Amino acid sequence: MPVITNIEDLRILHKKRTPKMFYDYADSGSWTESTYRSNESDFQKIKFRQKVAVNMENRTTKTQMIGQDVAMPVALAPTGLTGMQYADGEILAAKAAEKFGVPFCLSTMSICSIEDVAENTTKPFWFQLYVMKDRGFIERLIERAKAAKCSALVLTLDLQILGQRHKDLKNGLTAPPKLTIPNILDMMTKPAWCLGMLGTHRRTFRNIVGHATGVGNMSSLSSWTAEQFDPALNWSDVEWIKKLWGGKLIIKGILDEGDARLAVNSGADALIVSNHGGRQLDGAVSSIQALPGIVDAVGKDIEVWMDGGIRSGQDVLKAWALGARGTMIGRPFLYGLGAMGEAGVTKCLEIIHKELDITMAFTGHRDIKQVTKDILYPGTF
Ligand code: GLV
Repeated sequence: MPVITNIEDLRILHKKRTPKMFYDYADSGSWTESTYRSNESDFQKIKFRQKVAVNMENRTTKTQMIGQDVAMPVALAPTGLTGMQYADGEILAAKAAEKFGVPFCLSTMSICSIEDVAENTTKPFWFQLYVMKDRGFIERLIERAKAAKCSALVLTLDLQILGQRHKDLKNGLTAPPKLTIPNILDMMTKPAWCLGMLGTHRRTFRNIVGHATGVGNMSSLSSWTAEQFDPALNWSDVEWIKKLWGGKLIIKGILDEGDARLAVNSGADALIVSNHGGRQLDGAVSSIQALPGIVDAVGKDIEVWMDGGIRSGQDVLKAWALGARGTMIGRPFLYGLGAMGEAGVTKCLEIIHKELDITMAFTGHRDIKQVTKDILYPGTF
């Protein structure tokens, strides 16, 4: 077993142990992947200011996200098909998150259903909603999230139509995978994954299969989004959803200051600066570059979070210093999950936490809540 010291180690293991179509699904952006790349590379341009001879004892990264205590300002992002990266993936990731003390957010396009996750966890998790044309289905989905005692609804506004990810088309992505010769040959090189999948009955989009009616190919993300997601979604629908839900609401997918103001006006509790991990509008600005403008515009009126490009605790600290009061990680936890199941997600959280904690100390701080832009080197952000 290799010694795992960073998120990149988990990525390499994930790639080795998971069928190509699912690894590729996680590790790709839309079209040229330029936004996917700049999400990460723009973090690298920001530099810290080192402070020495400052007491480093008794440090804490604890804070709150929408009033909820968190061990660090990091939540597990909603990611589609997570239970295809590793059998029962959403349940395992939710368990790792609750033990670590960070929020887990379940995607509408998950493999394990809302009910599956609720039955196998003890603390409330969050549910991410995609809005479909079939509003009856949306009403039922929201009711199910309430019945499962989800403590926040994360409404994604940047995926009503799908940005093209070339690899998904070339790989013929479906859940479960079709038993074609190339897929069988690929799966034969991933025996542990196959055994895991044979040992679970959770192999379809269980939030929707058996719950939604009149849909064509239920196994393909692209046909599902093309047929069912509502391209006419607008801010009055947000108002409708907020009323139906009645609980904490988080708006995901904001990159524009005007849209950030609309999110505030919608009465949401938090917004997430996000370009969907570079998977939607290729050529869009990176999340970390968009963050400061949005914090300036609305940071006094709403909790601003960000996702996209975080691969380390250093990145979390940079986002915090630039005003994000929370972050979300998607690929890093998927790498951990695909590498080693629940233990891999825990490992991912431990790596990020340790990097965050020690880096904070090097910048002269013991409590993340005291950290401001002052820890960043002038002219680099
Ligand atoms: C969302 O489900 C995605 O694939 O980005």
